Amino acid sequence: MFSFGVLTMSDKGARGERVDTSGPYLLKTLKGLGYEQKAYAIVPDRVETIKNTLISWVDIEEIDLIITTGGTGVAPTDVTPEAMDDVLEKELPGMAEAMRAESLKKTPHAVLSRGRAGIRGNSLIINLPGSEKAARENIAVLLPCLVHALDKIQGGTSDCGVGVQETDNRK
Ligand code: MTE
Repeated sequence: MFSFGVLTMSDKGARGERVDTSGPYLLKTLKGLGYEQKAYAIVPDRVETIKNTLISWVDIEEIDLIITTGGTGVAPTDVTPEAMDDVLEKELPGMAEAMRAESLKKTPHAVLSRGRAGIRGNSLIINLPGSEKAARENIAVLLPCLVHALDKIQGGTSDCGVGVQETDNRK
């Protein structure tokens, strides 16, 4: 099974002034699906800190899947998408677009998330918004495609049509 890490971006969380519920929600959900937890951290909204943490989790820890939560919005402190500039080698716009499109059915504020998704090395990195509700609604959109995405990113040669019907009934 694939390994994963969750990185929560929050100035208040990093100072211990806010309890992170999104991170633990994501940890529980992914562990429940059989992914192996390798890392979890709360960092402040600083480009350098976010960037260095993600690069170390990919290049040194070799974590397959990294989910971030928070800092994707339009507040002056929100810099998660900017931190991705020096991290991602390939962008996966479809993932971010799909999350925003589905989220728009739930809240008009969905358009305020600037979250990105993409690949560095053999790892997949996905930005989610910060609230637990938003994290839950956004990750739900991508869960059915994660295993196949990770398999392909890591050079898997399995047939793209196989297994789709097990997780998706759009046919
Ligand atoms: N997407 C979903 N599905 N559900 C939500 O409640 N909240 C939005 C948006 N995306 C939301 C959502 C709000 S209010 C904001 S400000 C942006 O995500 C950015 O959130 P962030 O700054 O916490 O990353």
